[in-house]
Amino acid sequence: MEIDVLTLFPRIFEGPLEESILKRAQQKGLVGVRVHNLRDFTHDKHRVVDDRPYGGGPGMLMKPEPIFEAVERFRREGSRVVLMTPQGSLLTQAQAQEFSQAGHLVIICGHYEGVDERVRAALVTDEVSIGDYVLTNGALAAAVFVDAVVRLLPGVLGDENSASDDSFASGLLEGPQYTRPPEFRGLTVPEVLLSGNHEAIAKWRADWARQRTKERRPDLWKQE
Ligand code: 6GU
Repeated sequence: MEIDVLTLFPRIFEGPLEESILKRAQQKGLVGVRVHNLRDFTHDKHRVVDDRPYGGGPGMLMKPEPIFEAVERFRREGSRVVLMTPQGSLLTQAQAQEFSQAGHLVIICGHYEGVDERVRAALVTDEVSIGDYVLTNGALAAAVFVDAVVRLLPGVLGDENSASDDSFASGLLEGPQYTRPPEFRGLTVPEVLLSGNHEAIAKWRADWARQRTKERRPDLWKQE
């Protein structure tokens, strides 16, 4: 997969890519991520990327010209052009799966009060929000989005199965997990996990997943 990210704040996006699994995915050639500063797509002396909204009101909007120039430079046949915005559809695991099938993503990071509507109308194929809260900067949301998508690409996670029993992959939350030691400050590990009885362990985990999902996320439970 190839990803081009357009942002006014490249360093905000870049940090998470330079560590751990996302770093290794790039080194292994499983994904190529290029980050571009939208200011480099201006042509005026002051490199202006924002302006006041027509009709008045507070805040500034991102101007269309630099975004059009950048998207038209990078997009190709079949690219998905994703605008990060709190007005987008909520990112879910199912959506992350779907985006992981794409060959090329161009991600536009919103900033200020938003972007000129003509960007949406003429360029954007998908609008994505990462949750019902407002961030100052779409680059943070883009880092979350890229992480959720890239970890699903074949070969990115060490153990090929480790994405398949994540919370949400099954539609349920994961239950409790333990590692050594078997007793720590008087707190013990449930017997069944030490028993070696794989059938009993699988049942225990499934029971917990159901219970936890019902308790904490009745919205997910009802969708079952
Ligand atoms: Cl994609 N952008 C911003 N600015 N805030 C958000 C968001 C995106 N998703 C949730 N909040």
